[in-house]
Order: sequence, then C-alpha cells, then structure tokens
Amino acid sequence: MNYRNRVISAEEAARRDAYISRVRSINSNKALKIFINTFGCQQNEADGESVAGMAALMGYSLTDCPECADLIVVNTCAVREHAEKKALSVVGQYKHCKKNKPSLVIAVCGCMVSQKHRADEIKMKYPYVDFTFGTSELYKFPELLAKRLKGGRRDFLLPNDEPLIAEGIAPARASSYRAWLSVMYGCNNFCSYCIVPYVRGRERSRDPRVIEEEFRTLVNDGYRDITLLGQNVNSYGQKCTFECNFAELLRRLSSVEGDYKLRFMTSHPKDATCELVDVMASSERIAKQFHLPLQSGSNSVLKAMNRGYTVEKYLDTVGYIREKMPDVTLTSDIIVGFPGESEADFEATLDVLRRVRYDMVYSFIYSPRTGTPAAQMADQIPEEVKGERLRRLLDLQTQIAEEKNAELLGTEQRVLCYGTSKNNDGMLEGRTEGNKIVLFKGDSSLEGEYVNVKITETHPFVMYGEKY
Ligand code: SAH
Ligand code: SF4
Ligand code: F3S
Repeated sequence: MNYRNRVISAEEAARRDAYISRVRSINSNKALKIFINTFGCQQNEADGESVAGMAALMGYSLTDCPECADLIVVNTCAVREHAEKKALSVVGQYKHCKKNKPSLVIAVCGCMVSQKHRADEIKMKYPYVDFTFGTSELYKFPELLAKRLKGGRRDFLLPNDEPLIAEGIAPARASSYRAWLSVMYGCNNFCSYCIVPYVRGRERSRDPRVIEEEFRTLVNDGYRDITLLGQNVNSYGQKCTFECNFAELLRRLSSVEGDYKLRFMTSHPKDATCELVDVMASSERIAKQFHLPLQSGSNSVLKAMNRGYTVEKYLDTVGYIREKMPDVTLTSDIIVGFPGESEADFEATLDVLRRVRYDMVYSFIYSPRTGTPAAQMADQIPEEVKGERLRRLLDLQTQIAEEKNAELLGTEQRVLCYGTSKNNDGMLEGRTEGNKIVLFKGDSSLEGEYVNVKITETHPFVMYGEKY
C-alpha cells in the first residue's frame, strides 16, 4: 500500500543538505543574488518561497532586478495557454542577461516544465537555460545547481510518477504578516480540462504534527493571516498512516491561541462536508470566507468536466454554508466555453450566479491543455463565442459584486493593512476578513497591523473607508 504521506528518505534529505553546503563552498565569500519570478497560483508562490529558502542557505540573497542577479529562477504555470506563453516570453527576455554576464545561471521550474514537451522545448530552443525541474523535485534544486556550477551538463528533470513529500526546507517568506502553508500537494481529481494532476502528480498530505509545528511558529512570529494550501483540501489525510481529516486539522490549528485569521483553499465541492462548515462556523480564528469553485452551472457540462457533483448538490452545500455563517464571503471559479457548452448551458451558469450571488468570481475562458481529455473533445467552442460569453458573465457578476459591496456601506470592518496601495497614491490597502480590498488613509507604519475602518464608499472590486 502506497500511503499518501510518505516523505523522502533521510539519505535523500541529507544529500540535499550536502549539496546546499557544496554550493555555499563553491561560491565562497561572494555576495551573490537570486532573482525569482513566480507565475501562477498560491501553491506556486509557496514553492517560490521554498526555492528562496534553499537559495538563502546557499548564500544567495533576493533581488528584484534580473540584470543584477547571479541566478535567475523562473517558476512557471501551465494552467492556461496564456500562462505558458507569458512564462516562455519572460525566459526569452533573460537571454540578454546571460550575454552580459556569462556566469549567470538560469533555471526554469514549476508546472510548465513538468511537462515533457515543454522541458524539451526549453532544451532545444532556449540554449541559455541551464536546467529545469518540476514541482515535485524542488528539493533537487541544490543538486542541479551544484552540478552546473561545477561545469556539469544542462539538465532537464521531469517529475517522478509517485512523488514524495520533502520536509525540512524552511521557506523564505515574502511577507512577515501573511503566509502560505501547504498542507498537501498534487491532485487526483483529473477534471477533464485541467493540467494540474499531470504536472503536480498524485495527491499527498503532510503530517499534521509537522503542519501544526510550522503553524505555531508562524503565530509566534506574529503572522496575522495564514492560508492553508492544497488543490483539494477536503481530501487532506486520505489514505495516510495518520488519522486526521481536514476538518480535524482546522480544529487543531484554530485552537492555537493568537490574534490571526486562518484561511484555506481550495475546497472541492464534491467533498465539502458539513463537518468542515461546522468547524469553520465554530471558530473566531477561521475567516468567514469560502472559495467554492463551481466551474459551470450546467449538469451536463459538470459531468463532461468530471467534477463529481451536480448543481443541486452544490446549491445544497452553499445553503448549509450560508445557514451556519450568514455573513460569509463566497467566491468561485467559472470556466466559460468548455467543449460542447451550449447557449442554454451557459445561461444555466448565469442562473447560478444570480441565485448564489457570489462576492467575487474568477472567470476564465476555456483553454485546451495538451494531454487532457477535454482538449480532444469534439465541439470546441469558437473563440468569439467564448469571448462574448465571458463579457456577459463579467457584466452580470460586476453588477452583483457592486450590490454585495453596497451592503457593507457604513459598516465597521477590522482590516489587515497590506501597506501602501500600488495603484492608488497616498492610500493604504487593507483586506477585510472576507478578503475584500479596502483603501483608506493612514501611516505606512500600519502595514501588518489590524486597523478598524468604517466603509464610506463602495465599488464592485474595491471599497473606501476611514480609520476610526
Ligand atoms: N484545484 C483548484 C483549482 C486549480 S486551477 C480547484 O479545483 O478549484 C484554478 C482555476 O483555473 C480552476 O478552478 C479553473 O476554473 C481554472 N482552469 C483550470 N484549467 C483550466 C483550463 N484548461 N482553461 C481555463 N481555465 C482553467
Ligand atoms: Fe484541476 Fe480539478 Fe484538481 Fe482542481 S480539482 S487542480 S480543477 S483537476
Ligand atoms: Fe498553480 Fe498554474 Fe501549477 S495554477 S498548480 S501554478 S499550473
């Protein structure tokens, strides 16, 4: 029996640590810099922080300037074609950096290069890339780097079919008050449109004791907002040698004393349980925010997507969530233009949007992914139809979001300050418990603190407020 919580062997971990020391000694006394460019989801951001953690141990400090770097790592995403194009074009831009500084090492990691055809493409068409490695081989990064620095050949490492968990790499977190905490890796769901199970491998769960230890450290270090990550957190702990499901994990973590909010993503509707909702509702420390991706409001499309639930079951779950947490912020993901999606199917999706009234919807045009069943399906939808459906969906959702936010006008919110707003001069940006953006005036020293704000103006995607 292959348990889903198997970790790499002690020898493998020791090998990694030895390579970390080796890189440090190869680079002795040089102040080296690493530039990491991460695309994609939170899970990829968390991986980028693990790469940064290993790099720090190897003597590299972070820079945000690729031209100044001695090592560039592009951490890629493959979820849609656009993401891959972007990653490839960015890799292309670093050619000149290598030309100006031949000692520069360029590595590409992440979901895109976990696919053989993309790793091959990098090998053939991007000769200045030194090595690539997949998401489940992050711990091989020091080895690949050490070998290359010693003049070894270019290497293109593809993921293993049964990847294991590598513990013992402390991430270098980008923020001192909000943190990603991976509780599991991979995905076993094989939704018919999705590349993730192919590039991130089979599902595996970290030991709850290791998670709890990391969590306690975060809380002690003053982290205010901690998001547990997994492609489908509801299957946490399945087929493991420990006994702890996701609801139980949440219960254990939220019993840790402290002034913080705990969140998680993503929850798959097919196995979102009442027990999970009950635990959320019962703890002040768990944010009342639920991301529950619907993908489509048509049962026949859901079936073709291999999602494993019906619209009726989905609406029941939403009903239970709202019953237990009336103030919950509810968000979703929608794909428009899935193969075979008729006008009536699409209307059914709009209908669910009108019924559920999400606070926010992340909507995507279906993008065929090489190797997935949906890419082979007949009746692919023409681009202009997909575009037109996306616009209609955005129009409807913008109106709903506007109305939902207007309900918050005049309310008092405790927001976590994220520092100065990038797009609004002189304003601070904060997030409510439901993760909504609030702009307000104040001193930048408030970054990382909770601030009480009264909402004075609302828009579909942003609200304004005043400190009180
Ligand atoms: N594990 C998460 C989602 C990961 S991908 C979940 O199951 O909800 C994030 C979102 O990207 C998905 O929810 C889906 O809406 C979208 N997505 C995934 N594959 C896609 C594709 N081929 N084309 C368009 N959107 C896609
Ligand atoms: Fe992709 Fe489905 Fe897995 Fe989410 S649950 S990562 S959409 S296969
Ligand atoms: Fe995330 Fe993109 Fe990979 S969405 S899991 S980085 S394909």
